[in-house]
Amino acid sequence: MGENALLSNIKAAMPERRAHFRRFGTLMEFDKSRKTVFSGIQPSGEFSIGNYFGALKHWAAMQEGVNPIYCIVDMHAITVPQDPETLRRRTLECAAVLLAIGIDPDKSLLFIQSHASAHAELAWILNCFSYMGELSRMTQFKDKSQKLNAESIRVGLFDYPVLMAADILAYQTDIVPVGEDQRQHIELTRDIAVRFNQAFGDTFTVPEGRYAEIGTKVLSLSDPSKKMSKSDENRNSYVLILEEPESILNKFKRAVTDSEPEIRYDPKAKPGISNLLEIYAAASGISVQDSVSQFDGLGYGELKKRVGEAVIEELRPIQEKYAEFSKDKAYVDSVLKAGADAAREIAASNLKIVQEKVGFYSL
Ligand code: TYM
Repeated sequence: MGENALLSNIKAAMPERRAHFRRFGTLMEFDKSRKTVFSGIQPSGEFSIGNYFGALKHWAAMQEGVNPIYCIVDMHAITVPQDPETLRRRTLECAAVLLAIGIDPDKSLLFIQSHASAHAELAWILNCFSYMGELSRMTQFKDKSQKLNAESIRVGLFDYPVLMAADILAYQTDIVPVGEDQRQHIELTRDIAVRFNQAFGDTFTVPEGRYAEIGTKVLSLSDPSKKMSKSDENRNSYVLILEEPESILNKFKRAVTDSEPEIRYDPKAKPGISNLLEIYAAASGISVQDSVSQFDGLGYGELKKRVGEAVIEELRPIQEKYAEFSKDKAYVDSVLKAGADAAREIAASNLKIVQEKVGFYSL
């Protein structure tokens, strides 16, 4: 689809969104029939099956009957050091991945965070309604800053969750589909929204996190006591969305399990096996219980092989589509441009109302 067709499609969808977002002004205009869904992903590396099963797969499934807004959060990415050219390349790759997993620009807004400056402006205002104490308690901040000494912890890393709150609140979001690791950030966002509403009257929709039943916390294949993360030094601990099938199979074959022979789902006693059963269930679209039954009487070797095969099958069409989108920069750019135009308009109109509420003088 050419740029013009895309733009007009999004513009055609705008009146509904506008009505929805004008909730600030008059509740009468609020279109309650459609919920707004917002989520984001950092373009800070390749994407793991943790990202996919915990979040991206559900983004793709949440595009009907809602206002879906999906954002590539490059401003969050620079809270840790980034090479500029690599960040730029990964941002475009991230957009191609999101299109490949099924984000449909005719249904969803897809845009880059730094293209809508209202996010940063709203984050500043929300900073003035957030406390050092609550930010200090964020476990992701604690994990990431643990390796650094106090002098070299960047303010951006500390303030990260407030920018995330701004992302969400700028769109009057109802539902935020994320993995379990983001729960604390979502709770903080809710607290900030409630606090602001109490001070200035009903302003922000108080959003709810939406966590996948299966795959909300995909664990490392080499150390199932922690989550799978693409920034892990051990490359065998994660599987990437764009990884070669042979490599995927090898990584699953090496996955750490336990010394008992029995395949059963028991996340506490058998985290490695339970993680494999969950990944299998998520990739095959079945319940964990059904995945346990399928492996009745089989050994760990067979389980690992079949999980690898199921993941390869799930990822195959995504990898094929990615190969196409990654060759068509002009198309991906046109999607991001249309998304940015619409996002800017929505976020700016909400920011304006917040600015008025806090007492900024307007001309
Ligand atoms: P990020 O980029 O770390 O991850 C993107 C999404 O992937 C999920 N995820 C996982 N889910 C299950 N198992 C795992 N091992 C796993 N690893 C990652 C994350 O929970 C996330 O949903 N702060 C966010 C980005 C963000 C955002 C927002 C999200 C910025 N603004 C506003 C929602 C709304 C982050 O760093 O995600």
